[in-house]
Amino acid sequence: MAGAHGKAYYVTTPIYYVNDAPHIGHAYTTTAGDVLTRWHRQRGEDVWFLTGVDEHGQKVMRAAEANGLAPQEWADRLVTDAWRPVLETINAANDDFIRTTETRHTRRVQDFVTKLHDGGHIFEGEYEAPYCVGCEEFKLAGDLLPGEGELEGQFLCPIHSRPVEIVSETNWFFRLSAFADRLIEHYELNPHAVQPQSAYNEVMSFIRQGLDDLSISRSTFDWGIDVPWDPDQVIYVWFDALLNYATAVGLGDSPTSEGGRKFANTWPADVHLVGKDILRFHAVIWPAMLMAAELPLPGMVFAHGWLLVGGEKMSKSKLTGIAPSQIIDHFGADAFRYYFLRAINFGQDGSFSWEDMSARYTSELANGLGNLASRATAMVGRYCDGVLPEPGALTNADRALIELLRTTVETTDAAMLRLEFSVGLASLKEFVDAVNLYVTEQEPWKVAKAVDDPVQVERLHTILYVMCECLRALSVLYSPVMPTAMGSLWSQLGADASLGSILEQRLQTAGHWGLLPVGSVVTKGDSLFPRLDDAEA
Ligand code: MSP
Repeated sequence: MAGAHGKAYYVTTPIYYVNDAPHIGHAYTTTAGDVLTRWHRQRGEDVWFLTGVDEHGQKVMRAAEANGLAPQEWADRLVTDAWRPVLETINAANDDFIRTTETRHTRRVQDFVTKLHDGGHIFEGEYEAPYCVGCEEFKLAGDLLPGEGELEGQFLCPIHSRPVEIVSETNWFFRLSAFADRLIEHYELNPHAVQPQSAYNEVMSFIRQGLDDLSISRSTFDWGIDVPWDPDQVIYVWFDALLNYATAVGLGDSPTSEGGRKFANTWPADVHLVGKDILRFHAVIWPAMLMAAELPLPGMVFAHGWLLVGGEKMSKSKLTGIAPSQIIDHFGADAFRYYFLRAINFGQDGSFSWEDMSARYTSELANGLGNLASRATAMVGRYCDGVLPEPGALTNADRALIELLRTTVETTDAAMLRLEFSVGLASLKEFVDAVNLYVTEQEPWKVAKAVDDPVQVERLHTILYVMCECLRALSVLYSPVMPTAMGSLWSQLGADASLGSILEQRLQTAGHWGLLPVGSVVTKGDSLFPRLDDAEA
């Protein structure tokens, strides 16, 4: 199946350092990517969703040393025990998972740097600069903070609050400075290529200050990909890592090979999702690398905010990391996915708190959507023997809801396509509230008492049909965010039998009225979002 523009909609997450196990800050990016790609799949588009791990560099090497293992052994262990399993925990449907130690990556990285070297974009030079191993980044002196107390006299990385190291080496350099003008021109012509606006502004002012050439190799340790023409040096971990987005889809392979065809059908990426701390790598260095290789540039880099603890970025090294499973064991993966995209504006920082998560779970999922579903399915069971009744004439209240559904689909779709997840989910929640209000006002349980009055019986049937039809639409609209619960709602509505799998339903037609056939077998299943006290009982 071809995408709207003849190429797959390609979304990536950063590849995560395997220095430690994932925390919810990492799972946040992957969840956003998963929701975004499921949304596009649900629109019938061809999609490719890549995630993976970044295994080279000093950060990983030192973590391995501290644990008494060789770096590869350490990486293998963390990938098997932590990074692959977390994808299942959060229910991510990624199409591929790349590891930077795989041959498919290392070989293509070497071909790429050779091409840049041959093209005159890489030269040898001397370098001395402060380096933060936590960031794996050379720092500008002006960005550092003075150490205090025991760290008096040293300079600290503002992100890791740890002293930087002075690196002085003869390295290979990428002529990044040569691309400043072209980058500015590119971003002036494509103002949406860096999102949100604040990230765009940051990138533009950074480039406008002029760019330094970039050291892209290291000689003092060997945990990396060899520089092909100088095996005493390994390629700088970020230069290696950024290339994953292209190596994973066949960078440099002959056009007639499988890799070449994949590349033609996938590259360039439509969206690189990144945290704001790694924006410059993605919006400055990466496009310059692609320009040097004469490759098309990605459609967009979206920099999201941080999950904060006590006002600081959540991090394992600061012992503030929460494992995704801690939350998911309690609330389930669907609620986890829902909460982080609903409660935090994508692009801004947000704080996680158990209180806020419980409050939203209870009001929006258990009492909101969950209660609507259980009321509808229970009443069809009680009053109509579990068979979806034929609706009669529509009242203004019915028509208002049908119209609201139509506009909700439009608003939500537009917001999700812009990666404004919290806006999209707010509009769905308003619709759920409107349907619940409709039920409260229509009082089907009262209408149901007039069993001998055909007018009232018809009215009851209409109300029940409207409720179930709204839920049919909601299950499709919420499916990219909460795939498990919505799959189960879909079955409870008896929709599989007539409409097929929920994954085959199209968002574009989700708001059309009357799709769920009269006569569908409706069953009240387990509660979609058990109340927390029930779950704990
Ligand atoms: N390996 C590099 C990325 C290379 S991509 C070519 C890296 N890895 S990381 O594991 O340190 O971070 C990966 C992503 O997780 C980054 O986007 C980072 O912003 C994100 N997060 C790490 N902690 C986070 C929070 N507390 N909150 C939100 N996202 C956070 O950088």
